[in-house]
Amino acid sequence: MSILDVAFVKGFVRMCQDGWEQGWHERNGGNLSYRMKPEDVKAVKGFFTQVGDWQEIGTSVPGLCGEYFMVTGSGKYFRNVAADTADSTCILEVDETGERYRICWGLVNGGRPTSELPSHLMNHEVKKAVSGGKHRVIYHAHPANIIALSFVLPLKDEVFTRELWEMMTECPVVFPQGVGVVKWMVPGGREIAVATSELMKKYDVAVWAHHGMFCSGEDFDLTFGLMHTVEKSAEILVKTLSIRPEKLQTILPQDFRDLAEEFHVTLEERFLYEKH
Ligand code: 13P
Ligand code: ZN
Repeated sequence: MSILDVAFVKGFVRMCQDGWEQGWHERNGGNLSYRMKPEDVKAVKGFFTQVGDWQEIGTSVPGLCGEYFMVTGSGKYFRNVAADTADSTCILEVDETGERYRICWGLVNGGRPTSELPSHLMNHEVKKAVSGGKHRVIYHAHPANIIALSFVLPLKDEVFTRELWEMMTECPVVFPQGVGVVKWMVPGGREIAVATSELMKKYDVAVWAHHGMFCSGEDFDLTFGLMHTVEKSAEILVKTLSIRPEKLQTILPQDFRDLAEEFHVTLEERFLYEKH
């Protein structure tokens, strides 16, 4: 049996391919990480034949001590993940201090995990805690429409959430907590990781202005579906603004309250402000 036949590896590879097919991953754009279950580690441990040296993560994630992750490589293309998984992804282990990692499998032609590893791991740490261990997937992509909106909407959680909710009736059911927005920051470091993980305490979606989006979820389907829903809603808003900047009609605050009751979700009133 090949490591590529293991269920979580198949799910990881399929998600990379799906993201590529959506057009969200030009060149090496975007990255994906999955926090492995004990049974996942057991299923692949036999393939850990060349374990690397411990490396600095660049931030501290004590909540993830001893955890294993499957992660895309830095500079690697989502387009190539299915064709050569061992070249473009890796499995890594976090040490007992939460400060370092080592590669256990993959990146067979050299390289390192995604440059956004600090953001991925800090988001995992927050999400593991707030979801009671349920969230396992962190996904970063560069979808064009949400990026376009970050040039024309105020960079406020309330505005992005409300505008996206208005574009498709089921949006408030799919992301009832709303979306957070991070102003433009230098990618790849600890500072943007801290800002994003702060938002992940209350949201499953963080927009990176003029860059892309981070989504968190329990499994590959839910996390991909979340990215897909937010980006589709953004696409409808871009189309609507392009046809006619002023809406003739829309979903109103009271409509959202009625929807929330029927679908048993809680929508915070700060998103249901009156517009003039
Ligand atoms: P990596 O190739 O290092 O994963 O970076 C891609 C990216 O999207 C950075 O934000
Ligand atoms: Zn990026």
